[in-house]
Amino acid sequence: MGTATSLISLMLVLFLLLTIPVRAQRTTTDTPTTEFTLLGFSGNQSEIRTERDAMIKTDGLLRLTDRKSNVAGTAFYNKPVRLLETQNNSTNTTVRSFSTSFVFVIIPRSSSNGGFGFTFTLSPTPYRTGADSAQYLGLLNKENDGKFTNHVFAVEFDTVQGFKDGDDRIGNHIGLNFNSLTSKNQEPVVYYDNEDADRKEDFQLESGEPIQALLDYNGTTQTLNVTVYPANLKSRPIKPSLSVQVPMLSQIVQEEMYVGFTAATGSDERSAHYVMGWSFSSGGVAHPLNISELPLPPPNTAEKRGFTSQVIALIVALSGVTIILLALLFFFVIYKKRLQEGDMLEEWEINHPHRLRYKDLYAATDGFKENRIIGTGGFGTVFRGSISSSSSDQIAVKKITPNSMQGAREFIAEIESLGRLRHKNLVNLQGWCKHKNDLLLIYDYIPNGSLDSLLYSVPRRSGAVLSWNVRFQIAKGIASGLLYLHEEWEQIVIHRDVKPSNVLIDDNMNPRLGDFGLARLYERGTLSHTTVVVGTIGYMAPELTRNSKSSSASDVFSYGVLLLEIVAGRRPTDAGSFFLPDWVMELHVSGEILRAVDPRLGSGYNRGEAKLALVVGLLCCHQIPASRPSMRKVLRYLNGDEDVPEFDNNWGYSDDSSRSDIGSRFGYVSSDKASSSVASFSVTRISSSSVFSGR
Ligand SMILES: *[C@@H]1O[C@H](CO)[C@@H](O)[C@H](O)[C@H]1NC(C)=O
Ligand SMILES: *[C@@H]1O[C@H](CO)[C@@H](O)[C@H](O)[C@H]1NC(C)=O
Ligand SMILES: *[C@@H]1O[C@H](CO)[C@@H](O)[C@H](O)[C@H]1NC(C)=O
Ligand SMILES: *[C@@H]1O[C@H](CO)[C@@H](O)[C@H](O)[C@H]1NC(C)=O
Ligand SMILES: *[C@@H]1O[C@H](CO)[C@@H](O)[C@H](O)[C@H]1NC(C)=O
Ligand SMILES: *[C@@H]1O[C@H](CO)[C@@H](O)[C@H](O)[C@H]1NC(C)=O
Ligand SMILES: *[C@@H]1O[C@H](CO)[C@@H](O)[C@H](O)[C@H]1NC(C)=O
Repeated sequence: MGTATSLISLMLVLFLLLTIPVRAQRTTTDTPTTEFTLLGFSGNQSEIRTERDAMIKTDGLLRLTDRKSNVAGTAFYNKPVRLLETQNNSTNTTVRSFSTSFVFVIIPRSSSNGGFGFTFTLSPTPYRTGADSAQYLGLLNKENDGKFTNHVFAVEFDTVQGFKDGDDRIGNHIGLNFNSLTSKNQEPVVYYDNEDADRKEDFQLESGEPIQALLDYNGTTQTLNVTVYPANLKSRPIKPSLSVQVPMLSQIVQEEMYVGFTAATGSDERSAHYVMGWSFSSGGVAHPLNISELPLPPPNTAEKRGFTSQVIALIVALSGVTIILLALLFFFVIYKKRLQEGDMLEEWEINHPHRLRYKDLYAATDGFKENRIIGTGGFGTVFRGSISSSSSDQIAVKKITPNSMQGAREFIAEIESLGRLRHKNLVNLQGWCKHKNDLLLIYDYIPNGSLDSLLYSVPRRSGAVLSWNVRFQIAKGIASGLLYLHEEWEQIVIHRDVKPSNVLIDDNMNPRLGDFGLARLYERGTLSHTTVVVGTIGYMAPELTRNSKSSSASDVFSYGVLLLEIVAGRRPTDAGSFFLPDWVMELHVSGEILRAVDPRLGSGYNRGEAKLALVVGLLCCHQIPASRPSMRKVLRYLNGDEDVPEFDNNWGYSDDSSRSDIGSRFGYVSSDKASSSVASFSVTRISSSSVFSGR
């Protein structure tokens, strides 16, 4: 028992011997020091206590405020700092030396609209409860401003002039604040050149660029040195921007103080306040900060100088209005485009029963695809279309692009009336459509192609020449259609371009005249604004070269040529001086008229009918319009209802030379390229201006 007690006593003594010197040293040495270096704040979040709008951003920057109105933010090192030293044997206390260094950035809303500023603060608490924004800098408020119980000391970096004490304050300054936001000392923001210490360089705190600040307080001399300079400066200025004795500090500093920053914005004066890095040392010298070791500064997004908030508001408002207008315009254009795609109607277009919708035609022709083209003729391109999948609903769409759409209204009025023509030997015009600069005429689709292709194309569809019966039936059918146009409808319609390519042959080998009436519109100049003679060389009546006045008699002349052509299987003109009616006439005069019959028929034809057809053809080709028979007569002759009258062999020509001229007079041969179902025009033009573009 005794040994145990003595052992414990010994250990206790040993323990005391070991520990007492340590404790003694602690009490005799100075208060503990605080020293830290924060190269950015990421990873040190726990060291920093942020309040209100302050935050540590992921990029390592400490942001005290953003540029919102009337916000404040504070950030304090979360451990207290001992700054008071009690001298031996004295109740007197002194503030010990300290040193701090930090790099900050102030990004104003615009260069004249930054604010309010920020501070480096010694505070008895790591937060500033009740502190106001704006000129109170997140440090104090109206009630406690100036009270000695505050125990706050702040070095303010103020960018706004005109706190309550008015004119004596200047914007862009550094101030020393003791318990109050009224600065005891304030200096403009300058740094001293290292080469010439008398030269002050002033610069803007709210430049958006990093600024280095150094605060050094010497407790012995009670002097506070403040040095601020743009962080991109080569070397730190030796002479401080501000060097003042601050004995008052000893009345403010308490046993435990917190060090940190506060910042605030006003309602209009708004800046984002950032701290990039911070070092502090109590009793020693703060570790110098090297900006290249700090996080990247925040992007300088300050707006251009000189825009007041009103101007900005105006710009924002105008931009908004502009965007809305643009959006409206955009939708209007889209709408208009859709309307056009559909059909943009002029008022007069609306009440036409034959007007078709472009949309439907577009769909029917597969968007006017090239493989739908079944012919290109004088007046335009012809497309095959199908309204439904059934083949009976096939249509032919002729697309005409005139030089100008002036006169379109009259043109369409004519088309409308032509649309009412109905005859088994006519190609029905189903309707029309005006789309932008195009006129679209919609016809029945006639499957067998044109008479032209049946007469001449090699190899022929059937592999055989058109039989006589079919030829004769076709000749009578055409005559019947022309008669309808000339006499049987409510008004006289002159075809003006009777020729094989304008005769389509349907399933029953029934001829259908196409493109009737259109030529008139050209002739009258409705579309071309020039008066032109329309027709095709070889089929044009001789009087048309003297006056361009078409009549039913000139149609009869064309029909006569066509009739001879059907029988002879020979084109009315060739490159030389050949003219079919002249040739047939010569044969007629020499009593060998049947030699004119298409030799490909061999003997497979009715001689009587052939002779009749040739003679009627010659009769129709009479030089004098009045001497030509009417279509009614022609049909009667062909049907054998009436005998063909005798006629003089000279056809009313004064001499032979003039008549052999007819074919070559125009020096132009039809350029009709229509190859398929829908007939198209060839226009022989006397005027030199073009009827249509693209020709
Ligand atoms: C900051 O964080 C780094 C890494 O996490 C650490 O080494 C350093 O001690 C911290 N600084 C302070 C002052 O705590
Ligand atoms: C303060 O106290 C220490 C030891 O306690 C002594 O060495 C020192 O001289 C004293 N200083 C003054 C100024 O009295
Ligand atoms: C402390 O100061 C008092 C007078 O203020 C003096 O009487 C005393 O001797 C001093 N003690 C030491 C240890 O210096
Ligand atoms: C203590 O403070 C008073 C007044 O501030 C001063 O006169 C005196 O010399 C100081 N004493 C010491 C030991 O510093
Ligand atoms: C403060 O600045 C003055 C003048 O440049 C200098 O003499 C003094 O040593 C500086 N004090 C500190 C604590 O840096
Ligand atoms: C404070 O100033 C005194 C006198 O000029 C000097 O001896 C001392 O080293 C300075 N202390 C610091 C921390 O600069
Ligand atoms: C800062 O750091 C960079 C690279 O880390 C170095 O090159 C430069 O000398 C340093 N500057 C100072 C003033 O220490």
